[in-house]
Amino acid sequence: MLIQNVRIENADAVSDIRIEHGVICEIGENLPIFEREETIKGQGGLALPPFVDCHVHLDTCLSLDATGPNTSGTLFEGIRVWSEYRKNLDKDEVQERALRTLQLYRNKGVQYVRSHVDISNDLTAFTALLELKEKVADDIDIQLVAFPQDGVLTSEKVRNNLEEAVRMGADVIGGIPHFELTRDHGDQSIRYVVELAQKYDKLVDMHCDEIDDDQSRFLEVLAAEAYETGMGNKVSASHTTAMHSYNNAYCNKLFRVLGMSGINIIANPLVNVNLQGRFDTYPKRRGITRMKELLENGINVSLGHDDIYDPFYPLGSGDMVEVLSMGLHLCHMMGYHELNDSYRIITYNGARTLHLDPERYGIAVGKPANFNVFSHKNFFEVLRSRDGMRFSIRNGNVMHADQSNRRDNS
Ligand code: FE2
Repeated sequence: MLIQNVRIENADAVSDIRIEHGVICEIGENLPIFEREETIKGQGGLALPPFVDCHVHLDTCLSLDATGPNTSGTLFEGIRVWSEYRKNLDKDEVQERALRTLQLYRNKGVQYVRSHVDISNDLTAFTALLELKEKVADDIDIQLVAFPQDGVLTSEKVRNNLEEAVRMGADVIGGIPHFELTRDHGDQSIRYVVELAQKYDKLVDMHCDEIDDDQSRFLEVLAAEAYETGMGNKVSASHTTAMHSYNNAYCNKLFRVLGMSGINIIANPLVNVNLQGRFDTYPKRRGITRMKELLENGINVSLGHDDIYDPFYPLGSGDMVEVLSMGLHLCHMMGYHELNDSYRIITYNGARTLHLDPERYGIAVGKPANFNVFSHKNFFEVLRSRDGMRFSIRNGNVMHADQSNRRDNS
């Protein structure tokens, strides 16, 4: 297959990409068309590596009709509503909702997803998604996080479920230190999770400081653990929205620890601009971590959709460009080059967070033929229009093509 005339990652010049057996075998200008070779005209559009969603909850997505609304809009009511619904979770129903969610991702060019799965009550959802992960592996890569939504130290049952999920095949171990009963419990929960991850050689991704409390400072504890244990960038901290409320002197000290640790930060701008600031009158905080400053300090920041049509977020369509757009607005990252280069946050930065093999991600000869092609010539125009993805290719197969996609067999 030959993809003709695309601009790879905002390049001025157009190139052709040849794919054989699902692998990119040649990139160059005006490549010859082999006899009976299938061709797709790129029409001078942008080609980017697949999008990466580093943080979603596939077990809760698309459940809002069934759970009923979150009337206050707060995270804590969301947790309450979800906790009630999860008592009667059904494996088939979880798989059906997750499959529909994955279809949304597929249509938006997302090929890598990290999903937290609540294991506090039982392992129904985790079992459902573990099965689904294998079934859909040709279409999308899923990492599963064993996520103790109720807190690790809450009960022995949660700790048993957590370890059982890890034995069953979780890729990542989660936690939620700011939701534990005390600050001390929060610290202990971080050490518990990191030790468990070391025992089973897993990644760590904790919901961390997802609260407007400027005294919620578990990120420094998690970063120090990542540094001292040598786990480094195998560790991620999701949300870290309390950083929005920290004073600058503390942040300056914190950034040093973050840099030393190599920890990844995952922001969820759509959901957190909804959930945070709910106790504020005016001015209302934006409730997002300091994405701009973190990136300027060389700390890896990637993004997650977090929730789609569930008790935590009533909207959403699996569109990582929409997630990115919200983050760029909230963090004042609206300069031309910041916008045009920001695709890296939902591609390469996400791939780094998920520990994807760098030899297998990106558009280059010898790598799997996984990429998206847009009708626009650069990412600035993709962001501005918020549409224009013409097709998504995975292992050389066209996964999604919109109406305007024209294919030739010549
Ligand atoms: Fe989350």
